[in-house]
Amino acid sequence: MAEPLSSRELLEWYLEAGVDETIGDAPVNRYLDPPAIRTAASAAGNSPPPAPPSHGMEDAPSTAPARPPAKPAAADQALQSACALAAAAMTVEELRRALEGFDGCGLKKTATNLVLGDGNPEARVILIGEAPGAEEDRQGLPFVGASGRLLDRMLGSIGLDRTQVYISNTVFWRPPGNRNPTTMEMAVCMPFVERLIELVDPEILVALGGAAAKVLLAQNVGIGKLRGRWFAYSTPRLPRPVEATAVFHPAYLLRSAAHKGEAWRDLLEIKRKLNPL
Ligand code: URA
Repeated sequence: MAEPLSSRELLEWYLEAGVDETIGDAPVNRYLDPPAIRTAASAAGNSPPPAPPSHGMEDAPSTAPARPPAKPAAADQALQSACALAAAAMTVEELRRALEGFDGCGLKKTATNLVLGDGNPEARVILIGEAPGAEEDRQGLPFVGASGRLLDRMLGSIGLDRTQVYISNTVFWRPPGNRNPTTMEMAVCMPFVERLIELVDPEILVALGGAAAKVLLAQNVGIGKLRGRWFAYSTPRLPRPVEATAVFHPAYLLRSAAHKGEAWRDLLEIKRKLNPL
């Protein structure tokens, strides 16, 4: 029989599984019997986990007609609701309220805060990253951790700060354990991202990193091939196409300093577009 795990091994196992934060203020003793855990969780203000579905052999044969699979219908519904809510928002603040009331993205369940955006909603430049991380989740603001500090320096190098740009992400809640957002999570947030771009109505859209570049520029090649190129980004409600490009993600630049030269050239091109001779 396998040896029981030590506390350290158990913690490492949790970390590898993506659990890097405790959720909830009150501790829960997981050594208690399951019913006792549920009681403890309720006392701590957490709702009890739903009863597991019974798939046992002891189930009586059902005469109910087969139901269509639940997942696609729920996903369709979430997408439809996202489109309707996003379309109805007439300001960035209304979009925030719409997102606060939207439960169609599973990421919301594990996140602490909604991370909609930061900066000037009337900016000439909008930057879209991939997903909030731990610090962003804590503060409810995008790019406030280590990569955010580099992003601020990158913007500063071309004379911009957060009063002159608007910053957001392809999803508005932190994926647990900083995993990549799934295609579905990105798809269900995309109507809100598009509406955000329409409401800011910038002159320049910058995708930060490969994941944002792929969904926003609708290109199926990596960031190494997309950066430095310019595209026309349009939606039916934008008054004119927005000039769109992609740059290396600041988190990537923190790990791969060799690419900073290319990032610098891309930033200079953005500056040149903003200040033509
Ligand atoms: N990385 C991102 O893509 N977005 C953030 O907000 C923070 C880090």
